[in-house]
Amino acid sequence: MAVGTHGESFMETDPPASHPARRGGRDAGGDAGGRDAGRGGAGGGLDGLAHVANKIRDAVESVIEGKPSAVRLALTVLLAEGHLLIEDVPGVGKTMLAKALARSVDCSVRRVQFTPDLLPSDITGVSAYNQERREFEFKPGPVFANIVVGDEINRASPKTQSALLECMEERQVTVDGTTYALEPPFMVISTQNPVEMEGTYPLPEAQRDRFTARISMGYPDPAAELEMLETHGETSPLDRLTPVAHAADVRDLIEVVRAQHVAPAVRQYAIDLVSATRRHPDLRLGASPRATLHLVRAARAYAALDDRDYVVPDDVQDLAVPVLAHRLLPTAEAQVQRRLPEQVVADLVKRLPVPSPGR
Ligand SMILES: Nc1ncnc2c1ncn2[C@@H]1O[C@H](COP(=O)(O)OP(=O)(O)OP(=O)(O)O)[C@@H](O)[C@H]1O
Ligand SMILES: [Mg+2]
Repeated sequence: MAVGTHGESFMETDPPASHPARRGGRDAGGDAGGRDAGRGGAGGGLDGLAHVANKIRDAVESVIEGKPSAVRLALTVLLAEGHLLIEDVPGVGKTMLAKALARSVDCSVRRVQFTPDLLPSDITGVSAYNQERREFEFKPGPVFANIVVGDEINRASPKTQSALLECMEERQVTVDGTTYALEPPFMVISTQNPVEMEGTYPLPEAQRDRFTARISMGYPDPAAELEMLETHGETSPLDRLTPVAHAADVRDLIEVVRAQHVAPAVRQYAIDLVSATRRHPDLRLGASPRATLHLVRAARAYAALDDRDYVVPDDVQDLAVPVLAHRLLPTAEAQVQRRLPEQVVADLVKRLPVPSPGR
């Protein structure tokens, strides 16, 4: 992390009476029994959130070895009502992470393996004529689920990719003039392999922009890989994974995250970071206002997972690369000199003045 900036003064003013922290957050249900009241306990403000979120995190980490920050980011995106792009070389657990997250929440999950012959209606659904009832009826496609795992999205044709990406942005599907809403929580987790490009259709920038964050898994360290050999021996731990939270719990968590406090100085800091990408000489495309929204939303969720009801600049800094880098395009010169958008964002995080508590 570039600069340590934690400070209670980012709370600035007292949270409003409707704020979950007030409604019975930190101090409410102080004992474990109290926290477990109701469905999953998420109704208990921030305390409930930490409890449920930790259960989901533990469940996913029982399957994915040695990748706590990837798991935390995936959970952050779920709670920030966003979509996640997992981009990495083959065999590093991309699909496994998506499946583990989907399986640890008791909600509807659909998986789509993208191929070049997949049609937009294979994603959204079709209106088919029912002979008996003599009318058209809508057969919903796999996008009508709480968590949609889209494997190898860059193998689908641009038309099919854009059908999915429209649903992601609008959270609704229009087929034959009728609009159907997608139920929250709605999260798309897409995977793609950035190395093997043959026969693929790279996602255009406008479509990458719809993903709240992009993560890469990276290789596990030797100890984690050894652990994987032990736990993934005969059966996959994914088969033993049972849901630890309900969809309604996740909806409660999302409500708590929405009410997280972001001080004006922290908002300004997020804007400063994003606008610096628009002026940067190594970039020919900077980050969009949608990126600013996603950055602040994700920071709210990230802070909540850290058991804080306010966002600090460190949250924004930690999320800057995963939230911004995949939306940026380097200039030809920067590309030749291997000055990648990830490094540009990391440099900006180091260079830009960080708001001090109380500014
Ligand atoms: N960090 C890890 N922890 C546990 N298992 C792992 C890890 N990395 C890889 N694996 C294991 O490796 C195997 C391959 O993982 P997975 O299918 O998720 O890879 P992938 O990244 O989706 O690959 P591809 O790009 O080929 O689809 C799985 O059995 C998975 O359990
Ligand atoms: Mg895969």
